[in-house]
Amino acid sequence: MDNATPHEPNASDEASADRRHISRKGLLKAAIVAGAAPLLAGGGVALARDSAAPNGSGGLLDPTPQCDDGDDPTPPQMEGPYFKPNSPRRNSLVTPGTPGVPLTVSGYVFGRACRPISGALLDFWQADTNGAYDMARYAFRGHQFTGPDGAFSLTTVVPGLYPGRTRHIHVKAQAPGGRILTTQLYFPNEPRNNTDALFDPRLLMNVRSVGNGRQGSFDFVLDVAQTPGPTDPPTNPPTNPPTDPPGGTWAPGTSYRAGDRVTYGGVAYRCRQAHQSMTGWEPPNVPALWERG
Ligand SMILES: [Fe+2]
Repeated sequence: MDNATPHEPNASDEASADRRHISRKGLLKAAIVAGAAPLLAGGGVALARDSAAPNGSGGLLDPTPQCDDGDDPTPPQMEGPYFKPNSPRRNSLVTPGTPGVPLTVSGYVFGRACRPISGALLDFWQADTNGAYDMARYAFRGHQFTGPDGAFSLTTVVPGLYPGRTRHIHVKAQAPGGRILTTQLYFPNEPRNNTDALFDPRLLMNVRSVGNGRQGSFDFVLDVAQTPGPTDPPTNPPTNPPTDPPGGTWAPGTSYRAGDRVTYGGVAYRCRQAHQSMTGWEPPNVPALWERG
């Protein structure tokens, strides 16, 4: 990866700046928790932003960045002293015998227009289950690239605690040719979240317990300008436009099933998984739910 070191904000400045920007996201999340969030039925939850699901402790989730207004990229955090360049390319940082609580982290990388970024680099590093970083080799370090739909998935263990910090995972994210975002991801309901000056609720993952492990999710929004989505009407509409699909024109508050077909902005889409639609999840904005065609 590009070894350029991004600007490292001062910890205290970063913490205070973070707190100034929480309010609007908090309101958004409050609306979601109050019941506006769509329920994804069957086929698993593909969107990390589907944050209304209960986490492992049964409590409501704290604010997490949403790719719904397109103007708030994922906030940066300091790199810290434990980054090492040239991590191996791999999605899994563990082997069957690795000690620790199994953890997967998955989600999507979006640009500012909430369109997925394919081929984005994600370079993760974290402490082992005992809170130790491997500075001699590359244990719990690995980079990967998002797929065509902007998705990523990391297999690891829950990082251990070490003095002075709450539980976290470090990551550098970079769109192809873009600037590096250095940040950290946090776990909900951690006692030390309240005392760690770096902790930022916008960087909370959604985490739930599954069997003896945990499943975390997080969507990155990179500060990458994107051209408008396919909602723009075509400049040269076909002479014989297709008839409206059975689903008609996409509308919020509608229960769609996998395979349903709709139009939105004059473009035809096919539903990829059952869900209830809502404003902000228009087909071009949620490639996990809708594909063109
Ligand atoms: Fe750390």
